Amino acid sequence: MAAPRHGAFHPLTVAEVDRLTDDSVALTLRVPQELREVYRHAPGQHLTLRRAAAGGEVRRTYSICSAAPAADGPGPAALRVGVRLVEGGEFSTFAHKEIAAGDVLEVMVPAGRFVLDPATAPAGAHYAAVVGGSGITPVLSIAASLLAARPDARFCLVRSDRTAESTMFLEEVADLKDRYPARFQLVTVLSREEQEAGLPSGRLDEERLAALLPALLPVAEVTGWFLCGPYGLVQGAERALGALGVARSRVHEEIFHVEDAAAPVRAATATAPSHGRVTARLDGRSGTWPVRDGESLLDAVLRNRADAPYACKGGVCGTCRAFLVTGEVRMERNFALETEETEAGFVLACQSHPVTEEVEIDFDR
Ligand code: FES
Repeated sequence: MAAPRHGAFHPLTVAEVDRLTDDSVALTLRVPQELREVYRHAPGQHLTLRRAAAGGEVRRTYSICSAAPAADGPGPAALRVGVRLVEGGEFSTFAHKEIAAGDVLEVMVPAGRFVLDPATAPAGAHYAAVVGGSGITPVLSIAASLLAARPDARFCLVRSDRTAESTMFLEEVADLKDRYPARFQLVTVLSREEQEAGLPSGRLDEERLAALLPALLPVAEVTGWFLCGPYGLVQGAERALGALGVARSRVHEEIFHVEDAAAPVRAATATAPSHGRVTARLDGRSGTWPVRDGESLLDAVLRNRADAPYACKGGVCGTCRAFLVTGEVRMERNFALETEETEAGFVLACQSHPVTEEVEIDFDR
């Protein structure tokens, strides 16, 4: 069958809303038979949900927490995503207060490259993850899918939360421990509560991780690392792994939100009038349009192609990734693309402004 279109939305019915904690819910979405291949996802991918709002629409990206379907089986009959309430967050407030079973939501096809395909794991693979808060969501899918598909694989999860009450997917993680006692290792660090004797508490920062990780597992033998959560935690974990001699190519990152004060905004790589013309290829069709002063490439494309893929418009989710075919751009912020991706020529369209008069990007690569 044809590959799912980038940025395509379909209406899916909410089958269930589970309250996970005071400030988080899990939404289960039913996938009709005819869309199951379109919603086939890799462990770690996310869905973008949208709703109409005053002056346009709101889109938010939520990771799929359910295990991925087996490669040789049918696509998923249901998808489950975790939604944590963000203060002032329009979509998360809507999810918490209004969404109920039977509602129909507009859902984009799965996307994201923070993934682990169990079929590609080497024999005897040993993966590890460091997650904070809702960063558990994609990693739950990654760990559950890997452990189910590969009886020779092991997974170590280090998770950080404020309190036990605010910890998402406690039961699901406990299930993994029950089901795979010899292959799933779990360490929980709670930052705002005294733990029972013997369990760690306090903030999971770089120094802490650099001491904790070698005591938990043979760091040098870990096949791959998955870091997910707030910017500060992911950066701290990345630095700790670097100090422990882990090659950057073994580290995968997904940032869920950026504390603005903590995050460096990338310096402009060139100064030039940020207008010009963009040629964009999307789902096999190309067009050329003007880019207005200060406008991003994504906004220029969206004025002409409403189906261009995006979610956060903040350089975090990576949904707007495109290949830069010709020309030069300046990216404002990038918390989504790995160094290998930018070196290979990929850019975030929502953060890119033309430096050269003509720029060509390809959303299909
Ligand atoms: S839309 Fe999220 S990074 Fe561009």
